[in-house]
Amino acid sequence: MRQPLVAGNWKMNGTRQSVAELLAGLKSGVGQVTTAEMAVCAPAIFIPMTEEALTGSAISWGGQDVSVHESGAYTGEISGGMLKDFGCKYAIIGHSERRTYHGESDELVAEKFEAALNAGLVPIFCVGETLEEREQGVTEAVVARQVDAVINRGGVEMLGKGVIAYEPVWAIGTGKTASPEQAQEVHAFIRSRVAGHSQAVADGIQILYGGSMNPGNAAQLLAKADIDGGLIGGASLKAADFLAIGIAANA
Ligand code: 13P
Repeated sequence: MRQPLVAGNWKMNGTRQSVAELLAGLKSGVGQVTTAEMAVCAPAIFIPMTEEALTGSAISWGGQDVSVHESGAYTGEISGGMLKDFGCKYAIIGHSERRTYHGESDELVAEKFEAALNAGLVPIFCVGETLEEREQGVTEAVVARQVDAVINRGGVEMLGKGVIAYEPVWAIGTGKTASPEQAQEVHAFIRSRVAGHSQAVADGIQILYGGSMNPGNAAQLLAKADIDGGLIGGASLKAADFLAIGIAANA
C-alpha cells in the first residue's frame, strides 16, 4: 500500500511575512489530514524559517532544485548537503520550469537525482509532456525517455528511491487540469514502464500528479489507482486549499 504524498511547490513566491502565515496555518490545520504525508518545497531562502516552524510537526519540507556538485565554486547553486543540513527530506528534480527556462537535459536531471540521493534526500522527479507533444501523440515516448534517463544512470533500484511526479506541462499554472482518466492513463504507463525493469519497484514507487490540482478536483484525481498524491503549485500557497487537498486523500 503506497502512502499518498501531497507536496507543495511554492516556486518563486512568498515574503517573510506570507511564508510565516502560511506555515502557521499549515501547522494548525494538518491534524485534519489523516492519511497523506504533507510536504512543502520552499524557495531556498525560506528553508531555515520553514525548518524552524515545522520541526516537530507532521509536515516535511524540501528544496526545489539541487546542484549536481557537493560544494565549491558554483555561484548561485545550492547543494543537497546544504538542504539536508536544514532538515529537508525532499528535493524537486527536473521540474519542467527548470527544463524549459534553464535548459536542463534528461541527463542532467538524472545526475541531479543521484546527487540528491547521495545527500540523503528523496528526489521528487518531475516528468511530463508539452501541449505540442501531446497533440503529436508522443506523450508516452516523452515520458518514457525522461524516466529511462534515470534508470540508465543508476538502474531501476535508484529510481525506486525517489518519487515520480507526472506534470503535463500544458496543465501547469493554466487552470487546465488533466482529466482523472488522462492522468491515470499516463501514470499507469509510467508504472508499467518501471515494471518492465522491476515489479517490486513499480509496486512501491509513489507517482504524484501535478498541474492545476486544487481542492475541487483533488478527490477525483486521487481516487485513481495509480495516482499516489499531488505536487501542487498555486493551491499550495493558501493553507486552507493545500490542506483541503491533503484531506481529500483521507482514507
Ligand atoms: P500548478 O498547481 O500551479 O499548476 O503547478 C503545478 C506544478 O508545477 C507543481 O510543481
